[in-house]
Amino acid sequence: MRLPGDIRKRAERLRREISRHDYLYYALDRPELPDAEYDRLFAALQKLEQTYPALINPASPTQRVGALPIAGFASVPHAVPMLSLDNAFSADQVEAFDQRIRDRLDCSDPVQYSAEPKLDGLAVSLRYESGVLVRGATRGDGRVGEDVTGNVRTIKAIPLRLIGSDVPDVLEVRGEVYLPIAGFNRLNTLARERGEKVFANPRNAAAGSLRQLDPRIAASRPLRLFVYGVGETSEGVLAATHSETMHKLSRWGLPVCGENAVVRGIEGCLEYFESLGRRRATLPYEIDGVVYKVDQCSLQAELGFVSRAPRWAIAHKFPAQEQLTVVRAVDWQVGRTGAITPVARLDPVIVGGVTVANATLHNIDELERKDIRVGDTVIVRRAGDVIPEVVAALADRRPAGAIQPTLPLQCPACGADVIRPDNEVVARCSGGLFCSAQRKEAIKHFVSRRALDVVGLGSKLVEQLVAREIVSNPADIFDPSKVNADSLAGFERMAEKSAAKVMQAIERSRDVSLARFIYALGIREVGEGTAQNLARHFGSLDALMAASDDPEALQHVPDIGPVVAQHIQAFFRQSHNRDVITQITASGGLRLQSEQGVAAADGCSAGSLTGKTFVITGSLERMSRDDAQNEVRRRGGRVSTSVSAKTSYMVVGKSPGSKLGKAQDLNITVLDETAFLRLLG
Ligand code: IVH
Repeated sequence: MRLPGDIRKRAERLRREISRHDYLYYALDRPELPDAEYDRLFAALQKLEQTYPALINPASPTQRVGALPIAGFASVPHAVPMLSLDNAFSADQVEAFDQRIRDRLDCSDPVQYSAEPKLDGLAVSLRYESGVLVRGATRGDGRVGEDVTGNVRTIKAIPLRLIGSDVPDVLEVRGEVYLPIAGFNRLNTLARERGEKVFANPRNAAAGSLRQLDPRIAASRPLRLFVYGVGETSEGVLAATHSETMHKLSRWGLPVCGENAVVRGIEGCLEYFESLGRRRATLPYEIDGVVYKVDQCSLQAELGFVSRAPRWAIAHKFPAQEQLTVVRAVDWQVGRTGAITPVARLDPVIVGGVTVANATLHNIDELERKDIRVGDTVIVRRAGDVIPEVVAALADRRPAGAIQPTLPLQCPACGADVIRPDNEVVARCSGGLFCSAQRKEAIKHFVSRRALDVVGLGSKLVEQLVAREIVSNPADIFDPSKVNADSLAGFERMAEKSAAKVMQAIERSRDVSLARFIYALGIREVGEGTAQNLARHFGSLDALMAASDDPEALQHVPDIGPVVAQHIQAFFRQSHNRDVITQITASGGLRLQSEQGVAAADGCSAGSLTGKTFVITGSLERMSRDDAQNEVRRRGGRVSTSVSAKTSYMVVGKSPGSKLGKAQDLNITVLDETAFLRLLG
């Protein structure tokens, strides 16, 4: 069928638009469109292609999940082998690597290295011909991999067509497919709720997803990609250095990790390692070390390879994240919403540099599925700042008489019945706020950093306040007849000065945004994002409470579906929750404010950074990166992780990444920490 030219053009325009927004979202982390608007573009293209099927081609974004399940994976020989890396486990070993390189190159000057996170996922090779993705393959044994084209095509971070007129005819890129930690947690929570098998870690989840024979399964997993190298190309070397090559790939639309940086010599390498190690827990994906690569391509060629690894690169690994230890007991912890969680008490063991003595077993189903018994030798795992967990028991090390834990019938804290509706995985204490454990957890959450942020009122102090019956609900914290310098002074390790500090922190936290307050209430499944949406939508606590009995009205708020609406309704229906809110607000205990109001009250000028986009690189000395980002947002500014022409300011701390170079190329105003603080006022 011949198609009218304007229809073709319209489809092409929509495809370009959609691909550009995929690129902005996945590669640059700088979305420009609300989700609904993106969905509208997508639906328009789908409709056009349904009406004119002749328009459909494999590079169309609607065709990501085109393939049907396959019987098995075909073999793909790699024209350029996919190498692995030698490992270094100490600074000495990295020094020896650097020395070997300088000896071979006969150079005494420091070598320039590209330092990059070692992503913990699965290596893939992507082949583009005339800019169109034609094949995706796993590494396999390095020489022959498996054809996983149908699966990689479903990963939205992977462009189906590259951007630009200077893309080589043949371009094979190498990179790591990974699952962001948030996506991994979401997948496992869902699996746990459904009583299905959970993944041990994001790497296994990514690898398992890519090796599915049915691409629809891969499509349902929020996989991502960062490219870190090049295989076969029709043009040989693409640039003089590895880092410039990465810039080129990024310009063509491929996602390159924003943490990559060019560093000088061994000192630069080790500084990068320290700095990334400190920030490791805050990264949205898992890394297991740093990779150093000689940046100059001509030097790489001179150095060459030994067996299966290049001489010009090495992986500097972080300390292990998994260790073996023994389970001494399994206790049952009662959470804020009454959920009863089994916790393994372990022989203390150092995992990734931190001593771990307790690890979660998530829920009774998982405990049974993993068949963990008291006395077992188990693998414990600590990833980022996530609570350590027991991954598995070693069956062959089980002692005779190892005891199988069972779910208690009564709450270990208050003695109320433990209930477990048939369709739920989680068992709960039925004691509600009469249960001291639930009350304690609710109060801890209320004053926590992301909620009311009462600095100095930590877990231990809250526990003592509840145990001595000084406070029994969140409102009591703001009642000076209960919590005051005198009542605090009697506590363990609480000098007069510290008591005064806690009182000051309580005073400061009385000015709080509506969003934080809603989050602080601890309504089931209302996290910070949902709380912000609720605050924006309703504008006041009264309006939210008035609407709380109308699930339909609640579902007009972005991201709120029937389940969360039901939780909100249930929360506000409970009279003791309403009583606590009345007690807090009526006494003038809290002054709820809009975001802008809070900014002004803190002496910062609200909206002063509206319309400005900031990128922060390197580590700041006087504030954490989180705080710096929050300060920008509170003044109406945006924070992005990648540099572009739209970046207004780049804030540079110690050991900045490659972003600084990009910002300088684009003539973007660069601020050091002092200048940044001055700008914040
Ligand atoms: S470069 C010739 N860079 O680590 C160099 N690899 O242990 C080949 N990996 O198979 C690899 N992050 O899957 C390189 N920034 C990075 C990496 C990285 C993760 C993985 C990759 C490779 C394995 C080698």
